[in-house]
Amino acid sequence: KGKEFEPKYIKSRPDIPAGSFQISKSILDKSIKEEVCILANDAAQDDRFSGAESIMTMNLRSVMCAPLVYQGEVLGVIYLDNREKPNCFDENDVALLSAMANQSAVAIDNSHLYDDLQKAYHEAILALLNTVEAKDPYTRGHSQRTSRYALGIAQEMGLDEEECKRIKTAAELHDIGKIGVRERIIDKASALSTMEFHSIQAHVLTGENILKPIEYLSFVLPMVRGHHEHYGDTGYPDGLKGEKIPLGARILGVADAFDAMTTQRPYNKPVSFKDAMKKLKAQKGKQFDSDVVEALDHFLKQSYSVTPEEIQMPKTHTDLEPSTEKKSRKKDTKKK
Ligand SMILES: [Fe+2]
Repeated sequence: KGKEFEPKYIKSRPDIPAGSFQISKSILDKSIKEEVCILANDAAQDDRFSGAESIMTMNLRSVMCAPLVYQGEVLGVIYLDNREKPNCFDENDVALLSAMANQSAVAIDNSHLYDDLQKAYHEAILALLNTVEAKDPYTRGHSQRTSRYALGIAQEMGLDEEECKRIKTAAELHDIGKIGVRERIIDKASALSTMEFHSIQAHVLTGENILKPIEYLSFVLPMVRGHHEHYGDTGYPDGLKGEKIPLGARILGVADAFDAMTTQRPYNKPVSFKDAMKKLKAQKGKQFDSDVVEALDHFLKQSYSVTPEEIQMPKTHTDLEPSTEKKSRKKDTKKK
């Protein structure tokens, strides 16, 4: 039906390299177009496929194939063949394969629905986040930049893909609680009173409370709550220290501080990437986890600069996406 199918999962004999594995297009096409299971006891002699070049070239003998159909749409096929012996499969095998194909089609469709639902959830949360950033022009784009740095740090530290994704999401949402802070406090250029400072500090708890009802985002809560804790000093809200602060929160803390230093704020002028790194390094083991600071340093050098000594600030925010070319030069030596 105009769709191109490509192999997603291949299991073959150890002596056949997976990359060179091919399947019969004629059998596949018939199964997909007619939405039928196919059993060929000896494909080379089968009238239905007579003259099919692919069957001859691949020396196909026993073949069975079942389409994955869900609500009238073919999502894929399960295909098995044996290139040495005829009559390897019988009617019972096809019946079993067909049942498996039906179950698989339902499972695939469910997983698509789940992905769509997650995406919709995420987009709604990002829209909510835009309302926070609309309140505070200085922090516009802060969440996205922080999430870029946090993801870079997590990848540098060798965290697995799932954990990296979680940290990226938490970074996008880390300041959502600022919606509960009055604009005049957020925009204030002069020193804050104790009351105002407490109001700013409360954003980590407000953020946690806003996100708490969303069960699928429960993993972000400790990171949102803990992103202002200090590794060797006293941060807030719980005064946690060292490894007691969740790693994701330690990563967010560094990424957040780095972006705050390098962008215009009411209370300070931006500094260069290089100077911001110096400031972060001066706080290693105090405000920040040393490993996390080093991972950011490495990430920035790999992504934004040609010389390790001089980290340049990107000219515009569009420069923030590291080029794939630079990324591919990344060394394999990941920190644990
Ligand atoms: Fe924050």
